[in-house]
Order: sequence, then structure tokens, then C-alpha cells
Amino acid sequence: MTKLKWGMIGGGEGSQIGPAHRLGALADSRFDFVAGALDHRPEIGREYATRLGIAADRAYGGWEEMLEGERNRDDRIDLVTVATPNSTHFEITKAFLQAGFNVLCEKPMTMTVEEGEEIVRIARETGKICAVNYCYSAYPMVRQARAMVRNGEIGKVRLVVTNFSHGHHGDATDADNPRVRWRYDPAMAGVSGQFADCGIHALHMASFIADDQVERLSADFASTIPSRELEDDAMVNFRMEGGTVGRLWTSSVAIGRQHGFDIQIFGETGGLRWASEQPNQLIHTPVGGRTQIIEKGEGGLHADAQRLSRVAIAHPEGFPLAVANIYCDLADAIAGHDRDGLPLAADGVRSMAAVHAAVASAKRQGEWVEARPSIFR
Ligand code: NAI
Repeated sequence: MTKLKWGMIGGGEGSQIGPAHRLGALADSRFDFVAGALDHRPEIGREYATRLGIAADRAYGGWEEMLEGERNRDDRIDLVTVATPNSTHFEITKAFLQAGFNVLCEKPMTMTVEEGEEIVRIARETGKICAVNYCYSAYPMVRQARAMVRNGEIGKVRLVVTNFSHGHHGDATDADNPRVRWRYDPAMAGVSGQFADCGIHALHMASFIADDQVERLSADFASTIPSRELEDDAMVNFRMEGGTVGRLWTSSVAIGRQHGFDIQIFGETGGLRWASEQPNQLIHTPVGGRTQIIEKGEGGLHADAQRLSRVAIAHPEGFPLAVANIYCDLADAIAGHDRDGLPLAADGVRSMAAVHAAVASAKRQGEWVEARPSIFR
């Protein structure tokens, strides 16, 4: 197996998501970390990249410099990860795709639906992969849930109920902390706060497991801390193209909830439940039967769940290894294999359309609105 060459933009020292990308990309020896523009401060980014083992001539001071440095190399990177703040995703992703690189972009992929549609078009035209880091969908037991639904094991899905609600921005006395405040400032965060930050993970997961796409939605947004311009709590009802009914609650003021991401899928012949804080268990209840716990690593799992489990039953695998599964799928996809679980730009633009639809609906007291980007109607 030829090792691929990987680079990252953003994800510098002290960033939230950078370590998960490094652990994930390097976990399975599929990639070497050879280039980076890791920080918005050029010298600090170069110094950190060098400390991580990147050669000095590929420790770049900014993404434009990295693009110029990499594009003409014989040994140029096979994949670049964009792990910078949201407002920069579009221009960086677009520039690298146009230069013929495969990209893994952090969520939300863009700020607007139009930008998202442009990324989908460019990826199609260039034939390059643009993946989006909906990493929760790569937990083995989430893949198991999806495979069970596809295999008809809970019948036709009637209802999906999902939450991504934590309490880490619930302290009003901390609301002015600059690390918190920007998330509710439209100039920095865009049109939506909590729904665009966490809600879209839950919405993607609903589509992913139910194997159905969101068509319309109705949203109720609240800024429970009044100084916040953007919502810190949202309830979104949705309907999917195949008829699935969806309910989603996302909040950052749910004090006492930690990570707070869970999902239940109710079908005609059974129900499933998965929670990110117990990611190795999938709870299955067949209609009229007993509730069972399906464990990661046990025998008889669907192929996708088996393939993405590394260590034996009862040994925990956590968030960085879910990210590693995204990188495994990417390495396979770059090698030309079909990996239909990999979240792509199409998923990224669907999320952006849902975010803008939810904002419009909330402004109109929950009016039901179209939630699909025009390219998928
Ligand atoms: P952060 O603020 O902790 O770190 C951002 C990093 O990017 C810093 O190292 C900063 O110096 C660097 N940076 C900023 N502008 C840059 C530029 N122009 N060029 C190069 N480096 C630059 O942010 P965090 O929380 O790590 O978020 C980054 C992205 O990851 C966001 O889009 C966020 O939504 C996403 N994210 C995704 C998660 C997931 O579960 N998939 C979880 C957490 C964050």
C-alpha cells in the first residue's frame, strides 16, 4: 500500500480540532504529514509545523504560500485538510480544488448556500474529492445503524429524534469571554449560532442513518442569553423526501449535558438508539421484543462496522478514531474505491441550505420552508 501525502491548514497549537485531525490522519499509516500552514500567525505556524516533523520548506506561513509551494512539486500532497475558522473554508477549499488537490473541509463547509453549490460544481468539474468532516457518521456503531436500516432490520423509518445539546455556553457571566462571544456574533459566525455549529452534525446524522434527505423544515430559535444576537438554542422539525418525520433539538445552554449528541431512529419493526458519549453501543429494540445492546467488535456486525473497528470488543475507541475512519475512507476513495459512507460536498451544501432555511423559518414564527439547495430539488 502506497502511503499518501497529507497537509493541513489551520489546526495549530492549542486549536480544538487540530489534534483530532493529526491523530486521525496518522492512525492507520495511510498518510504521512508532510506540509502545513497551521496558524494564522505565520511564524508561529512555521515553528509548530517544524516541531511536528514537517520539513522547513513545507512549513508554510499561510495557505496561499502553501498552495504555491505544493502545486508544482512532483511529490505534492494528495490531500489537504482545511481546519480553519468557518469564514475561510470557502476560499481555501475552492483554491485547492481548482489546483487539483483533494480536500477534507471542516464543517460548516461554507457560509452561504451559493458558495456550497460552487464547491459541489468545482469538485465535479475537477474530478477531485471534497469531503466534509461529519466525523460522527464514521463511528463503527453509527455505520452499523445505517447498515441495519438499509438491510430492513427496523423496517421503513418513520421517525428520527436527535439532540446535540450541551451546556458549555450556559454561564451568562462568561458570555463576554472572546472564545465564546464570537460564536453568537453574525460578523464572525454567519447567520446562525448553535444550529450551524452543532445542529448540522445531528441533521447530517439523521439523513445518514435514515438514508433519506431533508426536504422542508420549521424552526424555533431562541437567544436565551439576551445579549446574544444569534441563537443559543433551537428546535427544528423536519420532513424528509422519503416521508421520514424528524425532530431535532440543539442547545449550548443545557447545563449538565456534556457532549449531548444522541439519536433515535424509529422504524415500523424496531427502534435504534446511539449516543456519542457511549459510542461503542447501539441499542436495538425489535417490535414486541426485548431491548438488546449491540457492541462494537462483536461478531456478526455489518461489514462497514467491522471494517472500521480496530481494537477488540470492550476496548473503547473514541473521537479521534472516528476521525481516523474518515481518513481511511478518504485514502480508499483517493485510490479509486467506492466509499459511499464518506460525507462529501453534497452533504456540506445540504447543511448550508438547512441552516439558511432554519434562519428564515425562525424569523417567520416557524413557517415551514424548503430546506434543499436548488441543485438538489
Ligand atoms: P480554533 O479557533 O480552536 O483553531 C483554529 C486554528 O486555525 C488556529 O490554530 C488558528 O491559528 C488557525 N487559523 C486561523 N485562520 C487561519 C488561516 N487563515 N490560515 C491558517 N491557519 C489559520 O478553532 P476550532 O474549534 O479548531 O475550529 C476550526 C474548524 O473546525 C471550525 O470550522 C469548526 O467548526 C470545526 N470543528 C469541527 C468539529 C467536528 O466535530 N467536526 C469540532 C470542532 C471544530
